Amino acid sequence: MDSNILSIKNLNVSIGDKEILKDVTITVKSGEVHALMGPNGTGKSTLAHTVVGSVRYKVNSGELQINGKKLNDLQVYERAREGLFVAFQEPVSVQGLRFINYLRTAYSSLHPDEKLEYKKFVEEVKELLKYFGLDSSFVDRGLNEGLSGGEKKRMEALQMLILKPKFIILDEIDSGLDVDALKVVSKAISRAKENGAGIIIITHYQRILDYIKPDFVHVLINGRIAESGKGDLAKLIEERGYEYYKGGEVDAKIN
Ligand SMILES: Nc1ncnc2c1ncn2[C@@H]1O[C@H](COP(=O)(O)OP(=O)(O)OP(=O)(O)O)[C@@H](O)[C@H]1O
Ligand SMILES: [Mg+2]
Repeated sequence: MDSNILSIKNLNVSIGDKEILKDVTITVKSGEVHALMGPNGTGKSTLAHTVVGSVRYKVNSGELQINGKKLNDLQVYERAREGLFVAFQEPVSVQGLRFINYLRTAYSSLHPDEKLEYKKFVEEVKELLKYFGLDSSFVDRGLNEGLSGGEKKRMEALQMLILKPKFIILDEIDSGLDVDALKVVSKAISRAKENGAGIIIITHYQRILDYIKPDFVHVLINGRIAESGKGDLAKLIEERGYEYYKGGEVDAKIN
């Protein structure tokens, strides 16, 4: 298995003049699954957007690295090329951008040395569409165009498997999924893990973590990591709620 490291180091981020993330440090290695949890508005999606390089998010200090290479000054597509894939909480639709063309371009940019056989690629995508319970005609649709919420999430999981990135951030991939889809998507995440990807799952629910056991769990409160622990911390969070962190942070134990 490849050994890669995604390092989010002492990250401070603001949107406009509002400071959102404060001193966030998370280190993800190949084959690890990290769960990032925390109340609404605490900055989880901000972290996903910042790592991928969305321009609205201003990094005041701190560093992002993959295998020691600094990402801070790289464009979104350049970060993707370094092996980063982010499935957003609200996947965008792009009218007129055929899904298969988008995917092919993304794949080639991620794996520039591989010669892609188009026919085989399309077959593979169609097979995965079936695996995710999606119609094969989706290859020809505009990117996410006219898809239901749950269909979009499944399409994100499909992209994750096809693109084979080194690091994956899934922002609430489980929200809006029906029970069957949740199982399939969880299986897909396990597959990505087995293939050596390092994964951050942002979620509000224990349920997906029953299917895919996280190695580490981080709790983000008011933009700060209030606690980090092993996988079973997720269950504890569900039991005690975020009230527990009110009025002070528990020392982060693991990073
Ligand atoms: N473009 C923006 N302009 C101004 N404020 C923003 C913007 N995007 C996010 N915020 C604010 O930043 C804070 C963190 O938002 P973020 O979306 O990261 O939260 P979250 O932890 O993902 O919440 P949720 O669990 O509801 O998805 C919130 O207070 C939000 O209102
Ligand atoms: Mg969010």
